Amino acid sequence: MTADAGTTTDAAGTRIYRNDAARQWRCEPVAGIAGFHASMPGYAPTPLVELPGVAAELGVARVFVKDESSRMGLPAFKMLGVSYAIVRALGEHLSPGSAPLPLDELRERLAGGDVTLVAATDGNHGRAVAHMARLVGIRSLVFVPSTVTAEAQRAIAAEGAEVRELALPYDDVVAAAAEAAADPAMLHVQDTAWPGYHEVPQWIVDGYQTLCSEASGQLDAAGAERLDLVAVPVGVGSLAQAVVRHFRSEPGIAGDRPATVLSVEPELAPTLLDSLEAGSPRRVATGETIMLGLNCGTLSEIAWPLLRDGVDAAVTVSEDAAAQAVHDLARLGVDAGPCGAASLAGVRALRAAAEAGLTEALPPDAVVLLLSTEGRAANPLPERYR
Ligand SMILES: Cc1ncc(COP(=O)(O)O)c(C=O)c1O
Repeated sequence: MTADAGTTTDAAGTRIYRNDAARQWRCEPVAGIAGFHASMPGYAPTPLVELPGVAAELGVARVFVKDESSRMGLPAFKMLGVSYAIVRALGEHLSPGSAPLPLDELRERLAGGDVTLVAATDGNHGRAVAHMARLVGIRSLVFVPSTVTAEAQRAIAAEGAEVRELALPYDDVVAAAAEAAADPAMLHVQDTAWPGYHEVPQWIVDGYQTLCSEASGQLDAAGAERLDLVAVPVGVGSLAQAVVRHFRSEPGIAGDRPATVLSVEPELAPTLLDSLEAGSPRRVATGETIMLGLNCGTLSEIAWPLLRDGVDAAVTVSEDAAAQAVHDLARLGVDAGPCGAASLAGVRALRAAAEAGLTEALPPDAVVLLLSTEGRAANPLPERYR
């Protein structure tokens, strides 16, 4: 931890980490994938919705939510990364070094073969992998921990995947999928990186760039002249990696005054916050959270350096706070599942921390962007929270 970084805890137990040096830090812009998603079936930019009532509650000028409840046929943002990574990986498998092949050609060349996509998931990633496998006409094998609900497992199977449930924590399920992927017929598509496994997760992060570019264009179109804060839910940190890279690359979306990046995690899986606090990646034991997609105990190896340097603030949110945000957004007409609504819960936690004097308040003319990464169909609230 640097001298200008550290964690504080308020009376209610909310932890907040700040890294003031992140504002000055810049990284290289992302390699362009412009136009890739436009070639994919069902692609359309997702809505950016303004929420004046939430802006009033938070004491800021404008709040927007990027609503990923319907993205390329699925109720979460995941298809953006998975589609790009699978097209790249299958292209490399068929013709190493060639340009990415169109879907039709992939389907033709893979027909009758034995290539199988394999992945571990806590829900949304595996469903997207299975969906892509179906689009290109190949098999998929998806490993899930028992914490993934029967409903979510059925949704993955409905895409044509073979689903294998393991009574293990998520990180061990990831390891089991990696082991299965050693079979030469298996193509491993995991959304997190570890030593020796970087290429596919980097393509996944590259695919998330489309979400960030859409949001920037939509903020411009809405006449937002500044952007002060972006709240991003964090599991393994791949989406946050894309967000940091987008908002911290030169020349930068807002020129000299880039947005503050706020990471949001469940109190039960504070992997990034613990790692930032310690100054090096920490593995945490995860509990059972309603924010299933954020229930990860190990950060992606390629995300960590960007998150360490480029995340300005990190908070954790309680189960109740996430469920409350799901209901509040629903009342405003926004379909957000618990991981998506965690962004709002995170900004509320930041505001509470500011009121407790633990951090600076957002200025009254601030513009806030909430990334809502899934709809309720992706991850319905358990009965006790309905
Ligand atoms: C709905 C949802 N939001 C956010 C995330 C977090 O993304 P990452 O694991 O890249 O940090 C996930 C991950 O699966 C997710 O499913």
